[in-house]
Amino acid sequence: MSTSTGQGLVLGIDIGGSGIKGAPVDLDKGEFAAERVRIDTPSKARPQDVAEIVAQIAEDFADEVGQDSSVGVTVPAVVHHGVTKSAANIDDSWIDTDADQLFTQVLGRPVVVMNDADAAGQAEMHFGAGHAQEGVVLLTTLGTGIGSALFVGGQLVPNTELGHLELDGEEAEHRAASSVREDKDLSWEDWAERLQRFYRHVEDLLWPDLIIVGGGVSKKADKFLPLLDLRTVIVPAHLRNDAGIIGAAWQASH
Ligand code: BGC
Repeated sequence: MSTSTGQGLVLGIDIGGSGIKGAPVDLDKGEFAAERVRIDTPSKARPQDVAEIVAQIAEDFADEVGQDSSVGVTVPAVVHHGVTKSAANIDDSWIDTDADQLFTQVLGRPVVVMNDADAAGQAEMHFGAGHAQEGVVLLTTLGTGIGSALFVGGQLVPNTELGHLELDGEEAEHRAASSVREDKDLSWEDWAERLQRFYRHVEDLLWPDLIIVGGGVSKKADKFLPLLDLRTVIVPAHLRNDAGIIGAAWQASH
C-alpha cells in the first residue's frame, strides 16, 4: 500500500442517473491521476444512499488525495447555495436536500456541490474545447437529460437548466436528449432535426460565441453536428464523460 499523499490532486465525484464515478484529478494537467471508480447508482437513489457511495469512493482514493482536502461533487439537479432544488431525473427526495451539509458530514471534510453540467462546463473551459475562449460560451450535455452551463467572460452563470426550455410543446430534454434518440430509435437525421430546433432557439435567446456539445454521444459528433444549420460555431467537447469529475475537482480547489 502506498503511503504517499499526492500533492495537488483533488477528488472529483460525478453523480449520474446510472453511475456514480470518481477519480483523483491532476489539476495541472486536467486529467485523472488514477483510474476512475464507478459504482452503479441504486434505483430510486435517495440522498443518503448516494452519500454512502460517495464516502466509499472517497475512501478508495484516500492514498491519493488524503482525508482532509476539499472534494468536488456533482448532482444532476439545480444546486442553489449547496441545496438541491430540482429532481428531473433523480428521486424527488433530493428537492430541498442540503447536499453540501450531507456530503460534508459523511466525508468529514469540505465539499463543493454543483450541477453536473456546470461542472462539465468548468472542465471544458479550463482544459478543453472552451479553453481561452472569450465572450459567451454555452456547453450543453446530451445524455439522459439535457444539461447546460453558461459562461460569460469565463465566469459561470450557474443553473441555467436550458434542457427544460419548452420545445414544440414539451420540455426540450424530452424531445432531444440522447436518451430519447436511443429509446425511440431515431435516425441521426431525425434526432438532428430536434437538436436543430433546440439549438436554434437557444442561440436566438443567448447569442453565444461558441456552443460546446458534451455527454457520451459527443464522441459520435460527426454523425449529427454536420447536420445542424446554426449561426454559432458548435463543436464537440474534448473531455466527454470525464468532464464532470474534472470540473468538480477544479471547482473544489477554487
Ligand atoms: C437536470 C439538470 C442536469 C441535466 C443533465 C436535467 O434534467 O434538470 O440539472 O444538469 O439533466 O444531467
